[in-house]
Amino acid sequence: MKKIIFSLLLTVGAVSTASAVEGDAEAGKVKAGVCGACHGATGINPNPTYPDLAGQHEAYIVKQLADFKSGARTDVMMAPMATNLSDQDMADLGAFFASQKRASERADAPAADNNAPAAVAAPGNVEVVTSTAAKAIYAGDVKSGQEKSAMCVACHGADGNSLVAMYPKLAGQSASYLAKQLADFKSGARKDPVMVGMVAGLSEKDMQDLGAFYAVQTPTEGVGEASEIGQKLYFGGDAKKGVTACVACHGVKGKGMAHAGFPGIAGQNADYLKKQIASFRDGSRGNDRNDMMRNIAIKLSDSDIDELVNYMSSLK
Ligand code: HEC
Ligand code: HEC
Ligand code: HEC
Repeated sequence: MKKIIFSLLLTVGAVSTASAVEGDAEAGKVKAGVCGACHGATGINPNPTYPDLAGQHEAYIVKQLADFKSGARTDVMMAPMATNLSDQDMADLGAFFASQKRASERADAPAADNNAPAAVAAPGNVEVVTSTAAKAIYAGDVKSGQEKSAMCVACHGADGNSLVAMYPKLAGQSASYLAKQLADFKSGARKDPVMVGMVAGLSEKDMQDLGAFYAVQTPTEGVGEASEIGQKLYFGGDAKKGVTACVACHGVKGKGMAHAGFPGIAGQNADYLKKQIASFRDGSRGNDRNDMMRNIAIKLSDSDIDELVNYMSSLK
């Protein structure tokens, strides 16, 4: 895993084809941890945005990774994933995914429809986590969400635009992400002394309704200071420290990727953002699938965090 260092810098160089390196499926399994967020732990994710890798030809996988790395094949999500893979990493990953059973060969395979559960899910809140954004939005009822939000107004504002910097804005955030957070506060996967009291009486339906209501509200523009250093880190990561570029998951405009469970961070209140990154760094927030955020936050210095927060909170 150490070698899987990401950045958005495109590697210039020859397009290598399938290399002569022998792949080791066991080693590949370990290296595939980070891929699971999108492709599923065993290379199958019923979400139609992501190709299945399970049972794919080994040489084909290796060539695609080399092409994403060289820039011969472009994709905003895969480029940072492939940039720092060595030939050995690619061979190992190819061997691992090729050795997995295809969806059609699995008796217990999730159905290939939009609403089927994803292969990777945190225990305790499976129902909500695995909803696609569309499902959560349609499962939730905006109008009843609004009625249920009465007890949230004091801190999060009537339309989800909290004016207090310690309280997150919820407006415009993806419904499935919001519902997951509420479920996580309830299960204890995410801890906060204030929120735990708020969610105690909420059913799963309430959470989806609340998520749907806030998701359709319009977020106010960010009022942060902006930061060029923060912007560079956000888009390029830090290859030396092994910091993945935030853009890979939180998006070019900071709006997140609802279908993948990556929250929007654009224009979010600065104090809140700072507390969240610090909490991922010290492990006090640990509800991110596959340690996705903790693995990144642990490599950030205090000043990295300040610059990133200034940048993200300034996004419109
Ligand atoms: C943030 C989400 C994300 C992560 C994490 C991710 N991928 Fe991908 N991957 C994608 C998307 C989206 C595509 C489709 C790209 C396209 O449309 O060209 C893709 C395509 C691929 C392909 C090409 C498949 C084909 O049939 O052409 C391979 C191979 C691949 N990914 C391997 C990996 C490996 C190995 C990792 C982990 C090191 C990984 N991916 C991590 C999102 C992701
Ligand atoms: C007394 C103030 C208060 C009230 C009332 C309150 N919240 Fe919160 N909420 C907070 C605080 C503080 C946080 C940040 C917790 C942390 O630091 O992790 C938070 C976080 C959240 C988050 C996570 C947002 C994110 O971006 O991850 C969601 C979702 C949320 N609240 C929804 C609600 C809902 C829905 C209600 C009403 C049922 C509600 N809150 C009532 C103070 C409040
Ligand atoms: C591989 C994908 C990925 C990358 C790269 C990534 N994040 Fe995240 N981030 C996530 C996920 C997933 C969550 C939500 C976890 C949860 O609660 O379910 C998250 C949550 C957050 C949150 C909390 C949002 C909220 O509303 O509470 C902040 C802040 C954040 N990330 C900042 C960053 C920064 C800064 C970077 C770059 C240094 C970064 N992230 C890179 C996946 C990623």
